Amino acid sequence: MRGIILAGGTGTRLWPVTKSTSKQLLPIYDKPLIYYPIATLMLSGIREILIITTPHEQERFTELLGDGHQFGVEFSYAIQAEPNGLAEAFIIGREFIDNSPVTLILGDNLFYGSGITEMLTSAIESGVSTIFSYQVSNPEDYGVIYFDEQDNPLKVVEKPNSSTSNLAITGLYVFEGDVATVASGVKPSTRGELEITSIIQHYLENQSLQVRKLSRGMAWLDTGNPDALHDAASFVKVIEERTGQKIACLEEIAWRNQWITSEELRNLAIHFGNASYGRYLLSFIS
Ligand code: TTP
Repeated sequence: MRGIILAGGTGTRLWPVTKSTSKQLLPIYDKPLIYYPIATLMLSGIREILIITTPHEQERFTELLGDGHQFGVEFSYAIQAEPNGLAEAFIIGREFIDNSPVTLILGDNLFYGSGITEMLTSAIESGVSTIFSYQVSNPEDYGVIYFDEQDNPLKVVEKPNSSTSNLAITGLYVFEGDVATVASGVKPSTRGELEITSIIQHYLENQSLQVRKLSRGMAWLDTGNPDALHDAASFVKVIEERTGQKIACLEEIAWRNQWITSEELRNLAIHFGNASYGRYLLSFIS
């Protein structure tokens, strides 16, 4: 199974913080934001990952993440020349997708909670296009999914002015192998973007879309504005301090998945020198 991380965008709502750096490289407490979506994919067993960035930021990502072998995965990189919308990920990733089912996750989305990995894994195994919804207090800021009285998905609306549904569509999607072709047929919306809601609508109309509702015991955070960024960092800090376990520690996930050996983990830990991150890694093997 392949995964794509869409980590471009302009991050205008975070200016001036993101004037000279990518949102996805900003710290969420003790690690860069992009670690969190990478972790979500790795936990689901996805090892072939395409990272899409803006042209001028690509080098920073390759410097941080390399080819992925240190995490037992394979990163490849592609460029989105302009932030033309989420659906463009599948056009850019057409060769990578190679007509196979694919998972897309947005570079600024953080998922946490018991059961998420199982939900994603079972969606992937089902072979059916799947979106994941989450109840939020501000549905107007997201794509929203509406259900009929029998609880069947009815329609999706991008950022509705006011909404009778509070179920936002999260930035995690599983699509069938024809998604690049579907994306190529999408026309830009009134705001000039290739909307992922058009792709979702396509599968909905073809009755080949399932919606999995993330439960209230799970957390879905995004990091689009200063408050959300701060909240996400606080969330991670509280959980990590309380449990003594890190969220989205890629080296740990790789080691637990047996994708890297204890010796490799030790070498990675030593590389962190004095940082508490390195001591955390060493705690598993010493
Ligand atoms: P957004 O938060 O919608 O856009 P943005 O990151 O550019 O921020 P702002 O609205 O403040 O200008 O993007 C959600 C995620 O998707 C984020 O990780 C960036 C990514 N993205 C792209 O990579 N390309 C795109 O064309 C768009 C629209 C978003």
